[in-house]
Amino acid sequence: MDAENEQQAAPAEGGGQAQRAGLSRRAVIGWAGAGVALGAAAVGTVAAATMSDGDGAAAPQTSPEVPFYGEHQSGISTPVQDRLHFAAFDVITDDRDALVKMLKEWTKAAASITGGREVGGGAVGVVPESPPDDTGEALGLPASRLTLTIGFGRTLFEKDGQDRFGLRAKLPEALVELPKFKGDRLEAARSGGDLCVQACADDPQVAVHAIRNLARIGMGVVNVRWSQLGFGKTSSTTPDSQTPRNLMGFKDGTHNIAGTDADSLAQHVWVAPGDGADWMTGGSYLVARRIRMTIETWDRSSLKEQEDTFGRTKIEGAPYGKQKERDAPDLSAMPADSHVRLAHPDSNGGLMILRRGYSFTDGTDGLGRLDAGLFFLAYQRDTRKAFVPLQTKLAANDRLNEYITHVGSAHFACPPGVRKPGEWWGQTLFG
Ligand code: HEM
Repeated sequence: MDAENEQQAAPAEGGGQAQRAGLSRRAVIGWAGAGVALGAAAVGTVAAATMSDGDGAAAPQTSPEVPFYGEHQSGISTPVQDRLHFAAFDVITDDRDALVKMLKEWTKAAASITGGREVGGGAVGVVPESPPDDTGEALGLPASRLTLTIGFGRTLFEKDGQDRFGLRAKLPEALVELPKFKGDRLEAARSGGDLCVQACADDPQVAVHAIRNLARIGMGVVNVRWSQLGFGKTSSTTPDSQTPRNLMGFKDGTHNIAGTDADSLAQHVWVAPGDGADWMTGGSYLVARRIRMTIETWDRSSLKEQEDTFGRTKIEGAPYGKQKERDAPDLSAMPADSHVRLAHPDSNGGLMILRRGYSFTDGTDGLGRLDAGLFFLAYQRDTRKAFVPLQTKLAANDRLNEYITHVGSAHFACPPGVRKPGEWWGQTLFG
């Protein structure tokens, strides 16, 4: 039995409601709509209908599932999905057992919803007097390539000098407190967090449903500290697809680590044995930055100034002096303070990060300006050797700084993947 089927067949908690666990959301809407009574006798039938669209027809696989189980967490090298819901959580209990219990429940729920199934006993509870296990807004929607990626912040290990959960000795050296970079205008309410979950999906409702249900399961153990919705992926990890554009209108993600480039992933993204904290082997460090763009100023700048800012042309995305987006750049043809010249590995001793950011627009700021920009997400093997030196340099020299301000910041250790059912998020750390 493969991991996927094993998960579907595994008994779930929740007494009588357990019979419906593992049912696909697309199947549920059909069966519930037809008024089918889901009693114990129906379990076998329901399981067999998992891949049905409700009317008995095979559900077209328009939106494939991304496997939840594996050596690495999905959502890092996975081809970037269209939408993001990112949430940082504060742990509000000092009870380690309660935290571990929640992480186990989160893992089960994550395995279900990334597979397009409902949480626990489902959205149509068999006990009308209790709230259903699943909030229901994703019923009828496919898995939408949903991935859920968890990370642990420094404050989970140590906060105000306190070893909160007996984890202090396991704090990875690479999980540094990020320095204050030149120009930072960080807001505490948009920064930090004990835990994070990155939900990426091709349907925003599926991503929001995932975060909402994890927050619901975590009630009494965690509170959402801050969250960020993102759209229009601004980075690509699939070099053969069309490169998306950021809100400045430039192709973003042209030169990035490809999700298929195992050598570069091993060299720059995945923590290797001997790198430091053993429990992080196979994991990766995530830096999240909410970067606001001063769109109004940018929109009044000339095309030449915009292109000089990046060192690439706007429409084609070609490096200066070249014709095509994928042509090898001649860094000396770019202005010395251009973003690409400064950020390129040849200017940084070969340093690379895996960028996975999204655009955001969160209304206006009360002064008539759009609150918009780039929610920058970068994965790396060791933040001290990647984001920190790169951002130190960019913060001091990048021409782009005239048009952007970093207003939120967080740093997380994302553990290795959950390899099979029964394992759980954080097992290598807490286990
Ligand atoms: C709002 C902020 C930012 C915008 C609009 C932006 C935009 C871009 C664009 C348009 C490119 C060229 C296309 C490409 O190769 O992807 C690029 C490249 C790159 N950016 Fe950014 N970026 C931003 C922030 C950052 C930050 C904070 C970092 C790291 C600290 C960073 C690191 C890089 C790197 C490593 C490259 C690839 C350079 C190369 O190898 O050619 N960017 N960025």
